[in-house]
Formats: sequence, structure tokens, C-alpha cells
Amino acid sequence: MSNHDEDNTKFEDEVLPEGVVLKEHSYDGIREYDQRLPRWWLLTLYGAIIFSGLYWLVDHNYMKAQSTTEQVEQELSEIATIKLANSIDVTDNALFWEMSENAAFVTAGKVIYDANCTPCHGANLEGGIGFSLVDGEWVHGAQPSSIYNTIYDGVPDKGMQAWGTLLGQKRITEVVAYVLSKNDRSTMEAGK
Ligand code: HEC
Repeated sequence: MSNHDEDNTKFEDEVLPEGVVLKEHSYDGIREYDQRLPRWWLLTLYGAIIFSGLYWLVDHNYMKAQSTTEQVEQELSEIATIKLANSIDVTDNALFWEMSENAAFVTAGKVIYDANCTPCHGANLEGGIGFSLVDGEWVHGAQPSSIYNTIYDGVPDKGMQAWGTLLGQKRITEVVAYVLSKNDRSTMEAGK
């Protein structure tokens, strides 16, 4: 201790920057400034602490609401939808069936169906003016590509207009996906 006291004296006549106070202690001649931390520095520190707390809360609650597995599944299904949408081939029956199991296609198809087809085919595809689309009977062909063509070209002389120019390929594909989703694949594949 006495050593330190001696050291202290060395600094007494040293010129310190204005407003700087030295701490009492001295270790091997090293002395510390006794200064308040600048306000901006403290703000950054406390700000970071508060932010980390808030971030944790938000992140933690978000993860609770939607588990990682669900997130991944959702992303995968979105990718599948994009892939399907980019690979529409109206002659590919298997692809139509794949679309009939894709929620995005089926939902989009239902919207189109509800807006255009219910007056003649019924709200539940049960038929009316037009044929039932769930009775397993397909006058114009049971293959998804045939159904697509029937809707696209219509049966004008029998009261079913051609929807091709009105709805376009993508929307007719979606409506086919919706119709298929209400039918049994193996039964339909057995038909013609
Ligand atoms: C104005 C009434 C009307 C509207 C609206 C209508 N259809 Fe039809 N649709 C018919 C009629 C009538 C037939 C039967 C034609 C025949 O006798 O061959 C038919 C036949 C069909 C068939 C063939 C069924 C089979 O057994 O092969 C499909 C598929 C079909 N419609 C789908 C649709 C879809 C999808 C929409 C909506 C985009 C739609 N229709 C809108 C009247 C309509």
C-alpha cells in the first residue's frame, strides 16, 4: 500500500484534460479517470438491452404461434404451388390430379366455380340445368384433360358456353382442380 501512495505523487503535477478527475487508487503507477460515461454511449447500451428483451418476447411468441415445422410445411406447399403454376400442361392428367390436392389451386378454383358455374351446376356440383359434376358420369370424358377441354370449348349447342376466352388457361385449370377435388380419383381413372 505504501508503494502506491508513493506512486500517487508522481501524477500530482501532470496536466489533466479539463474536467477530468482521477480515481483514488493507483496500481503500479496506473491510475484511472473517474468520468461519467457519455449520454450517447449509455443510450446505445440501454437501448440494446431493451431491444434484446423486446426482440426475445416478439420472437418467442411468434415461434409459439407457428412452430418451425408448420412454417417449413407452409413454405414447401407454397413452393409446390409455384412449381405447379409454372408447369401447367393441360394434357397431363396426373398433373391435374396433383393440382386437385393442392389447397391453393382448389381454393382458387372454388372461387371461379362459385362465380360462374353454380347457376347451372349447383353450389355443390350436384347439377341442375347442367350435368352433375359429382355423379361419376362424364358424358364428355372423365379424364381431367377432357374435362378441361369441355370447359374450355363448352358445348355451345347444348347450353354450355365456351369458357376459354373468358377465363383463360390458368383459371380453367384451377376450376378443373376444384371439380376433381370433389371426385374420387380411382373411380374416375377407371372411367373414360
Ligand atoms: C348456363 C349454364 C351453364 C353454366 C353457367 C356452366 N355450365 Fe357446364 N354445362 C352446362 C350444360 C347444359 C352441360 C351439358 C352439356 C351437354 O348436354 O352435353 C354442361 C356440361 C359441363 C361439363 C361436362 C360434364 C360431363 O358430364 O362431361 C363440365 C365439366 C362443365 N359443364 C363444367 C362447367 C364449369 C366448370 C362451369 C363454370 C366455369 C360451367 N360448366 C358453367 C351448363 C352450364
